[in-house]
Amino acid sequence: MIQFDRVSKRYPSGQQALQNISFELDRGEFTFLTGHSGAGKSTLLKLVLGLDKASAGIVTVAGHNIVQLTPEKTAARRRIIGAVFQDHQLLSDRTVFDNVALPLEISGFSQRELRSRVRAALDKVGLLRVEKAMPAGLSGGQQQRIGIARAIVNSPSIILADEPTGNLDSALSNEIMDLFTQFKSLGVCVLVASHDKHLINRFSQRTLVLKDGNLIADIPGEQGETACAKDQTKQ
Ligand SMILES: Nc1ncnc2c1ncn2[C@@H]1O[C@H](COP(=O)(O)OP(=O)(O)OP(=O)(O)O)[C@@H](O)[C@H]1O
Ligand SMILES: [Mg+2]
Repeated sequence: MIQFDRVSKRYPSGQQALQNISFELDRGEFTFLTGHSGAGKSTLLKLVLGLDKASAGIVTVAGHNIVQLTPEKTAARRRIIGAVFQDHQLLSDRTVFDNVALPLEISGFSQRELRSRVRAALDKVGLLRVEKAMPAGLSGGQQQRIGIARAIVNSPSIILADEPTGNLDSALSNEIMDLFTQFKSLGVCVLVASHDKHLINRFSQRTLVLKDGNLIADIPGEQGETACAKDQTKQ
């Protein structure tokens, strides 16, 4: 689903943010991306999103070399990616429902289809009851879950999250990460950037480790011991 082939990124300032990075992430795979502040995590996510271009190497997303895409194809590719950020990026003058509906309005869905998709996404993150509330009246964890509902409402094949639990306490962080790990059973490829070692250790998932722009480790997850698998056996 996501493939990096000897990818490097050097910013115009001369800062070498990524150096000769190669890895591959499949459908239905959950992966952490970790490393110290400035290691290159956000830069790597930006390359997947197409918000910035690699200086060398090839980034392939859902079978397409992203550098060669036309603007129309770039827009189509963006629709298959749901992105979640630490600061939520919610619109404060819109209700929870309207915030989540935003990506669908751009896609031109009918009102009926839109309502059913937004409600399904809100249900998945446990926010159906507060659909008419304004984001400012909700807790940090609830606001983060609005961001997740907005990222999944288009049924993306890929979910990217940059420090999605950065502002949350450990109970809420666990809750959010449980949600993310559940998406992999739906065949979604999930990549979560986090520098929170405790959080990463609690969820035994594949982990890519960056150091000064180099990929220094690719640690496999413990199959069968994942939070996702545990959840499924409980049901
Ligand atoms: N737009 C930019 N222009 C120039 N240099 C940049 C830019 N964005 C990031 N950098 C530099 O590239 C390197 C990698 O930054 P990046 O933001 O990817 O790190 P990070 O791992 O996400 O760090 P953090 O954990 O603090 O979010 C850093 O040295 C940073 O200063
Ligand atoms: Mg970052």
